[in-house]
Amino acid sequence: MSRPQLRFFQPNKKFFAYMEKYRNNIIVDIGAGEGHVALALEKKGFKVIAIDKDPKENAVYPTLPVDAETFKYPDNSVMLIARPCHGDFAYSAIMHALQTTVKTAIYVGLEHNVERDLTEIPYLGKIVEKGVGKEKEIIIELISNGKYNDYTPRGSCQSRSGSIDEFNPLVRCYPTVIKIRPVQVSIHRYTGVGQHYHVTAEEHHNPIVSPDGTFVSLYGDKDCDGRYESNNFNTPEEVSLWIEGLKKIFPPETHKIFINNDNTLHWFYKDGD
Ligand SMILES: C[S@@+](CC[C@H](N)C(=O)[O-])C[C@H]1O[C@@H](n2cnc3c(N)ncnc32)[C@H](O)[C@@H]1O
Repeated sequence: MSRPQLRFFQPNKKFFAYMEKYRNNIIVDIGAGEGHVALALEKKGFKVIAIDKDPKENAVYPTLPVDAETFKYPDNSVMLIARPCHGDFAYSAIMHALQTTVKTAIYVGLEHNVERDLTEIPYLGKIVEKGVGKEKEIIIELISNGKYNDYTPRGSCQSRSGSIDEFNPLVRCYPTVIKIRPVQVSIHRYTGVGQHYHVTAEEHHNPIVSPDGTFVSLYGDKDCDGRYESNNFNTPEEVSLWIEGLKKIFPPETHKIFINNDNTLHWFYKDGD
């Protein structure tokens, strides 16, 4: 028995019209899933490569079983990432692509997912088309012109021992490279015996930029740690007020607050847990 279809992005005419300008490129569909977008593009005469770290049993297009973060793009590639899994995937995959020979990365997603998929990238890319699929997906286009070379995939900062004296001049990721420092706010709803909201706000850490361009966090480097705030509340209104108050600690001129409110998560606990 074949598995149920898992087709997220279902492109419409507007999408294919937008893609026309890339007719002479190789479109690399990253996280292609069942490959239906790759197949549709090929049927319209585009040259396509589909890759997915976890190729699907019922894929309709040949899919390379490769991780987006290590993929070696052929020359003249354009990266396409449609309706990615949330988390670091889209950010890391786009950064990897734009730090290779890829000149253009095309993100297709739902408008309300842009911030959590791309974090600070939205400041560097722009929405170029809306309503390109069945669920009114938008397109953000990111053009590489060297400006992404200072970026590193989130989480790829290397932790190691060493002395700060090794780094001369000492350059930090913020605020010199990226002016706006992200703050991730997470709201967890606990239900069970009563209900409460546990809210955390975490400033992105501030690693040292080592001469080879990688980001390094030295053990014991206090200046690297981001600030961290947390609190418990009984109502969503109290949560909103607290988040509003965070702007005093993380002002909009220097920080951007990203809110991850996964309201479907429930942690059941017993009194006294
Ligand atoms: C939500 S699905 C979207 C599939 C397809 N683009 C669509 O619109 O139907 C995301 C896909 O990304 C793949 N994926 C997740 N992380 C990946 C990675 N690091 N490298 C390559 N593919 C990845 C998953 O296996 C999954 O098939």
